Amino acid sequence: MRQAGRYMKAGYQVLCEKYPSFRQRSENVDLVVEISLQPWKVFKPDGVILFSDILTPLPGMNIPFDIVKGKGPVIYSPLRTANDVDKVREFCPQEAVPYVGEALSILRAEVKNEAAVLGFVGAPFTLASYVVEGGSSKHFSKIKNLAFSQPKVLHALLQKFTNSMAEYIKYQADNGAQAVQIFDSWATELSPVDFEEFSLPYLKQIVDSVKLTHPDLPLILYASGSGGLIERLPLTGVDVISLDWTVDMEEGRRRMGSNIAVQGNVDPGVLFGSKEFITQRIHDTVRKAGTSKHILNLGHGIVVGTPEENVAHFFEVAKGIRY
Ligand code: CP3
Repeated sequence: MRQAGRYMKAGYQVLCEKYPSFRQRSENVDLVVEISLQPWKVFKPDGVILFSDILTPLPGMNIPFDIVKGKGPVIYSPLRTANDVDKVREFCPQEAVPYVGEALSILRAEVKNEAAVLGFVGAPFTLASYVVEGGSSKHFSKIKNLAFSQPKVLHALLQKFTNSMAEYIKYQADNGAQAVQIFDSWATELSPVDFEEFSLPYLKQIVDSVKLTHPDLPLILYASGSGGLIERLPLTGVDVISLDWTVDMEEGRRRMGSNIAVQGNVDPGVLFGSKEFITQRIHDTVRKAGTSKHILNLGHGIVVGTPEENVAHFFEVAKGIRY
């Protein structure tokens, strides 16, 4: 979860000063590899996350974007009409983001069998929310306007993202990703009945398509604030549900059934607490998750300003756990 060390003074923050553009940092093979490896070298987690963004495929789909300091993602020409959606190209990863494949294969070789290399993509609804809103949003008024006044236009856009992200997952796996997380960060802005129309079928299509060619690739699904959707998330067919901390791990387990694996879900804010407090919360989460099918993680990315020694403590405690 947002492993790129925004909280790491000696690593990522220094590189950000040298290369101030997010797109530059995330589209250059050497920088992607270096940034991906920085937290792994310091903390030795079991997974190395590709340094990238869920929006990275957009230019390859004819949707220019940037990430502006202090403002977040910006889509210069938001898509709002059938004509806008027609102009969206389906994504060909080999041509559009060759640096992602190259970086993944270098990472795979670098970390050998000491850690898993993890890829990720944005889910269709979450990507659509950025390109329709024009960036981050509070009320999601523009995408809801589209969903509820011109649903066909939104469905056409969601279908393009679905086909493109299925290909992108396969491309990441073919180049070295050993598990891929799908971020549907904003699906929880939808009421459950609308999730069933605008997100679930597309997630399911992606999973079905990937499982046809890559049956053994573990797929993880994350949606922030997912408490209202918990029973529906496993219906996508993914192997692992990544829970945020607003869901009690024991309740989440119970509501999803025992067949699916869970990831999470310590509040990243806990890392501001004392070492004893952090230890206690890790043990609490592990106890509630049970002794199998659990990937211990935070419930979202590490917050800027988190003491690095507390991040190190999280890993020390986690590695010391014996069932
Ligand atoms: O190396 C890694 O650990 C990859 C980490 C990662 C990034 N983006 C890098 C990044 C991941 C997993 C993402 C996914 C992502 N991007 C999501 C899904 C996860 C979630 O948060 O729910 C979303 C919604 C985005 C869109 C996005 N990208 C936003 C909202 C922002 C701005 C955030 C902010 O606080 O400024 C970004 C920029 C971004 N992507 C940063 C990082 C490390 C921060 C900016 C920077 O470091 O320059």
